[in-house]
This record gives sequence, C-alpha cells and structure tokens, in this order.
Amino acid sequence: MNRDTKAAILCAGVAAPSADNSQPWRFEWRGDDLDLRIDEGRSGRVSDTRYVLSDMAAGACLENMVIHARSLGYAADVQTFPRPDDELWAARIRWRRDPECDQPEPLAGAIEQRHTDRRFPWGGPVTPDTQARLNAQAKLMPGQRLYWPQTPRERKAALSVIRQAETLRFRSPTLHAELFSSIRFAAGWHTACEEGLAPVTLAVEPPVRPVFQALRRPVVMTMLNRLGAASILGWRSAWLPIRLSPGLCLLVIPSTARSDVLAGGRALQRVWLQATLDGLSVQPYAAAGVLSLGFVPVEPAFQRQLSRLGTALGELCEPGYGLVFLRLGYARSAPHGRSGRRVPASFGTFP
Ligand SMILES: Cc1cc2nc3c(=O)[nH]c(=O)nc-3n(C[C@H](O)[C@H](O)[C@H](O)COP(=O)(O)O)c2cc1C
Repeated sequence: MNRDTKAAILCAGVAAPSADNSQPWRFEWRGDDLDLRIDEGRSGRVSDTRYVLSDMAAGACLENMVIHARSLGYAADVQTFPRPDDELWAARIRWRRDPECDQPEPLAGAIEQRHTDRRFPWGGPVTPDTQARLNAQAKLMPGQRLYWPQTPRERKAALSVIRQAETLRFRSPTLHAELFSSIRFAAGWHTACEEGLAPVTLAVEPPVRPVFQALRRPVVMTMLNRLGAASILGWRSAWLPIRLSPGLCLLVIPSTARSDVLAGGRALQRVWLQATLDGLSVQPYAAAGVLSLGFVPVEPAFQRQLSRLGTALGELCEPGYGLVFLRLGYARSAPHGRSGRRVPASFGTFP
C-alpha cells in the first residue's frame, strides 16, 4: 500500500462524526496494518464513561476507512478490541488488495458531504423506500437495526424520552459543564473551528445567542433553571425540531458489549452516508440512549429519572438497546457552517 493510499484512507476516517466533534482517534501504522486507537486525552469524560461515545466514533471512523479503501481496491480484515487488557485499542485493520472490490462503492461518494444539520423545519416525507434503504445499511452490521416509531403513541413516547434526556443535559451541573465546555464560543458565531462545537453549527437564533452564551456559567444556568430554563432548552433543542421533521429513527444495538457499541458506530455511519446520498439532512440525538445505559455518573438527585428513562426507552425498542436517535428530513439548502477537523499529523503517525 503506498503512502498516498494510506493518507487517503486516514482522511476518510477523520471525516467521520464524533460526539461534540471530539475526534477521539489515534492511528498507528505497522507496515500495511493499521491500528485504530481511542485518544486517551479526548475520551472518557462524563458521558463517555465506559467509552460509549468514543466507541461509536471509532466505529464510524473505521467504517469510513473500510468504505473508502474498498473504492480503491482494498479489502479489510478487521479485528475489534484485539487485546482485552488494552481498552484504548479499538481495532487492528489488515488491508489486502482485492481485485473483486475494485468496484465503485456508492457510499464512498458521501463521506466528504456528510455533516450534522441542526436546523429545522425540514420537508418530507421520508418514504418507505428510503426507510428500507437505511434499514438495509444498518442490518449489514450483524445484530444492528433501526427502529422507526410508527404510531402516534410510539412517536410521543420517543419524543418524551429524547426531550427528558436533553433537558437533563442543562439541569444536571455535571452534564451542563460537559456540554458547554465542548462549545468553542471564542470562534464567534460565524466561523468554523477544527475541534469541538463551533457556535455556527448549533443553529441558535441570533436574538437568543447572548443568553445562550451566558448559560455556560453554572451560576446563571442554576438561577435560570429555577424559572424553567432547562425545560425550555429541552423543548427547543429536541421537541420542536423533531416535531417539525418528517423522520425519526433509533439505532438499536444487540448488547452493551463494547464490540457491539463499535459495530453500532459502523451501522450509524452507513445509515448516515446512505441518508446523505438520498439528499436527507441528519441530526443525531445521543443523550437518551447513552444516559439510559447507566454508565454515566450524574448526580444522585437525577438517578431515578435516569432509570425511568431507561425503562421507557427499553419498552420502545426491545429487544436490544436504543443507542442514538436520528432526526431526518429534507432541508432547502446546505447549512452555513460545518464542523472542521484537526490537522492530519495530530492523529498519530500519518504516513
Ligand atoms: C456518537 C455521536 C453522538 C452524537 N450526539 C449528538 C447529539 O446528541 N446532538 C447533536 O446535535 N449532534 C450529535 N452528534 C453529532 C456531532 O456533534 C458531529 O458529528 C460533530 O460535531 C462533527 O460534525 P459533522 O457531523 O458535521 O462532521 C453526535 C455524533 C456522534 C458520532
């Protein structure tokens, strides 16, 4: 494998999504084998206890690399978590030339176009044909599937779970600190940044921006929470956009084993790339699924609410574990701002 091919594969990997744009990936080449590792300094924080978010990001990164390599004529033999005592070692990938996979790989064309869109409202409908294409991509990863709330009762239950989880992100001091620390207010409201969440990507309406920015201070958040600020934010960030979007689905994983969470990230990426090819905009909502797994150490005052959340989510999508909701629909235009990425050399040994 030559240097350009290796570099192109890594660039495809880095284009993957990650929670809060944390980009928690490290790459190490060993000849033509590639080790994908989780970056210790960019993982393991509150919501990432047990590396649930990082494992999903690693899965998405891995899938991008596998898809892009296939379009270049390389097949991948992937071993996930090769050494149980090395919890940061997500995968070893052995690349081999495979004349049979020298075919165009349709999803590869969407790798650079895929992005998160937090605007609304979006048009529809997301037709049964489109849903079937997205389902098929998820199912290519054994045990993974998409659940689509169909009836008004199911949709209402899903909305309630997502809204409660998003509200908790502003109500719990621990989750609030984590959320606001990932927003790069120094970048201003118009420019992208290469790591973390640029305000321009958050779709906050101009008149509310100063208040939103003030909320990063715990004392302001606590004070405004007495007036119901967390509920309003949960309503604005989740309930309203979802109500004004035609599609909502939930990625369901078969177990909470790390290998299944990573495979969930691979499925998530395939679904997102297919949605991009179909012209759909996508916003993930991960809080409900991730908080429900029970690994996140929030304050004791919120524990009962968390366990109720887990029960409600479980009843919605059993068997399995609902990991991340996806809001879907057709936007009229591309978003003004997109998240950037760090320079390639910062991810480890770039070839
Ligand atoms: C595991 C995971 C969880 C995410 N959770 C959320 C979320 O709860 N809300 C949200 O708006 N975006 C979420 N995102 C989207 C990321 O913020 C986004 O991928 C990142 O900022 C990079 O931007 P891009 O997708 O436009 O490349 C999530 C992404 C991943 C991979």
